[in-house]
Amino acid sequence: MADGNFPFTPEIEAATAPLWEKVRRRVTPIEWRAHAPLIAEINRLKREKNAVILAHNYMTPEIFHGVGDFVGDSLGLAREAARADAAIIVQAGVHFMAETSKVLCPEKTVLIPDLRAGCSLAASITAEDVRLIKQRYPGVPVVTYVNTTAEVKAETDICCTSANAVQVVEAAAAAAGTDRVILLPDEFLARNVARQTDVRIIAWQGRCEVHERFDADDIRQVREAWPDAEILAHPECPAEVLELADFAGSTTAMTDYVAKRQPRQVVLITECSMADNIAAEAPATEFVRPCNLCPHMKRISLENIYEALVNQRFEVNVDPDVAARARRSVQRMIDLPPPAAPARYDLVKARHHVDVELI
Ligand code: 13P
Ligand code: SF4
Repeated sequence: MADGNFPFTPEIEAATAPLWEKVRRRVTPIEWRAHAPLIAEINRLKREKNAVILAHNYMTPEIFHGVGDFVGDSLGLAREAARADAAIIVQAGVHFMAETSKVLCPEKTVLIPDLRAGCSLAASITAEDVRLIKQRYPGVPVVTYVNTTAEVKAETDICCTSANAVQVVEAAAAAAGTDRVILLPDEFLARNVARQTDVRIIAWQGRCEVHERFDADDIRQVREAWPDAEILAHPECPAEVLELADFAGSTTAMTDYVAKRQPRQVVLITECSMADNIAAEAPATEFVRPCNLCPHMKRISLENIYEALVNQRFEVNVDPDVAARARRSVQRMIDLPPPAAPARYDLVKARHHVDVELI
């Protein structure tokens, strides 16, 4: 149907039954009757248009399990974008991720279903800020988190994600023959990295608006209410949160932890959709709140993914000169040997006395 209202027929019900099995613990039957026809139509459109959907771990389960061709954390999606064999990439994630895909695949059409899907970290710093920082710290390598605009990436030496930040910081310091690295723009990630390495970290005061809201009291209250629950935290959280958690790592590291260990109860100190998506891998695990919603990630829906494919919108473009310079920084990160296991923030080895220099 041209208006995007597709009926839930017995054929659609049968064709989407395996997906329903994956999400039935987190999606109601009423919701599924609306989602299933759109999922079937989006998957048909992908084949017709030679498109792939890259879906971040924070997408809702009907997107993540229903239409994502590749799912994962920021590092995994960047690697998949570089390899993507399709004419169109639809980024089910936020704008900086779509820019990263365009930077890596300039010949492909990259679409984001809602242009307002931003990120508080990407908005916290500009290319001009980075140029001024480089003037202030000549010769000190600049590592930027992928949660930045392409213009910011173009000013930096190498990118990192939460899955490889310690490895990248150490590689950047070694390559420049220094013991100092500028790590932009997430202050909390920088503080958490600084505790894992001998490299001295210079940090910016950007924050993820989802993870900065967790504090030590939240973790203490969770421990008291659910003493048996294992607590996993994302490294964009304040260090006091990581100190009280059982494990810290990127979104994929958390997924691996739950899938391998199948804890009886777990708390994911991160964005809420993580628990919904992992639930399919860990049927016996009870996922305990709290979690916080990312308003930017939640702008992406099945409806606007469908619109993106039908109307080929909203196309993300990056100035070719900026893209070439940003590509160098992202490619250097991708070319580093992949870690044997997703990096964890080792809370036992953490050097609690180590602090960062704030710009
Ligand atoms: P990762 O998926 O790389 O852990 O990043 C989390 C995030 O906040 C992405 O926006
Ligand atoms: Fe940005 Fe935080 Fe949302 Fe990720 S969760 S997109 S870092 S605001």
